[in-house]
Amino acid sequence: MDLLPGGVNSPVRAMRAIGRNPVFVARGSGARLYDVDGTEYVDWISSWGPLILGHAHPAVVEAVNDAAANGLTFGAPTEAEVELAAEVVRRVPSAEMVRMTSSGTEAAMSAIRVARAATGRDAIVKFRGAYHGHSDGLLADAGSGLATQGIPASPGVTAAQARDTIVVEWNDRAGVEAALASEPVAAIVAEPYPANMGLVPPRDGFLEFLREAATATGALLVFDEVITGFRVGPGGVQARVGVTPDLTLLGKVLGGGLPAAAYAGRRHLMELVAPAGEVYQAGTLSGNPLAVAAGLATLGLLDGAAYDRLASTTDALAAGLAAAARECGVPVQVQHTTGLLTVFFSRAPVTNFTEASACDTAAYGAWCRKLLERGVYPPASQFEAWFPSLAHGDDDVERTVEAAAAAFEAL
Ligand SMILES: Cc1ncc(COP(=O)(O)O)c(C=O)c1O
Repeated sequence: MDLLPGGVNSPVRAMRAIGRNPVFVARGSGARLYDVDGTEYVDWISSWGPLILGHAHPAVVEAVNDAAANGLTFGAPTEAEVELAAEVVRRVPSAEMVRMTSSGTEAAMSAIRVARAATGRDAIVKFRGAYHGHSDGLLADAGSGLATQGIPASPGVTAAQARDTIVVEWNDRAGVEAALASEPVAAIVAEPYPANMGLVPPRDGFLEFLREAATATGALLVFDEVITGFRVGPGGVQARVGVTPDLTLLGKVLGGGLPAAAYAGRRHLMELVAPAGEVYQAGTLSGNPLAVAAGLATLGLLDGAAYDRLASTTDALAAGLAAAARECGVPVQVQHTTGLLTVFFSRAPVTNFTEASACDTAAYGAWCRKLLERGVYPPASQFEAWFPSLAHGDDDVERTVEAAAAAFEAL
């Protein structure tokens, strides 16, 4: 606490929201995490998404070691970057060209710069409780760590930056229509399966509606698939539901546990990016060899069978948690999709951030503390998702459901 603000290098790692100190980690293996005191946990945060294969997967570690032996970074292009871009283009329907960055934050702010350059418009529409990284214009009502810490909008963001962001409630068609009518909009930016207010899927037809509304008004549609990209299926939400955005943000799984992210999209948009075009964006370590090697090794193991297994692990976890809550008479909603899950302490399904905010966060916090005491590491916030991985087996689900039942009972 003396050296790191709040004891952490990123706010969601702190456990203030559930009334305790963060876990200091010594190592991870598969689905298990070990703290500095030697306590073992079933890890359900998977570093907040990247570790879809679990901790220290041998194929990823070997790929990173091999890459490291050949040089850590060059500041010049490598063949592996082209290979990774080709893999992204093969999987993600909207991706014709790819620009890599080191973080999802950079990918989001850069894609918005492209959208503004392409449309000649300033305003963007984002959804309440959706997180697109911590760049100034995207911090309004940004869910995730801000919601967890009770921060509605960050000090330090100028009025001018805030003015260009129109915030609309998720799943609210009339709200989107009103925003698009209020001024010319460069882009609608959406997590297609929002996971930073907890997991709140779109209502039937909402993503199709966003596509049509963007096209009709000359705005671009930007899907932030930093979380969902290679997690809910091989080509993200867009491949699964058949709604193709103009630009896509990718990260987390893309770097296999090392810093890598990307924005990708239609050729005519991506060719605006320097040096092909004049929209400037750069990065010393963008597409660095270690992250690219980890990403390629990870994506190489994500075939159809892998997603079937991830879906059945998530289904089993969701069913087990819901049954445990029911038996103990604790009203919760377990909302899930392949590789993502949230236990909302709510009597009714959660369809937007206002409803997520109305959950019983004190009960959620007490439940999480009990889980941690029983060797299960859940997201220490009502506004984050659980991240099942391919390393989680039946024993991890069983141990978690047992601990969850005891924790519900203790509430
Ligand atoms: C949907 C989404 N977009 C963007 C980001 C920002 O990514 P990064 O933390 O790599 O900057 C995150 C991070 O959690 C995210 O969940």
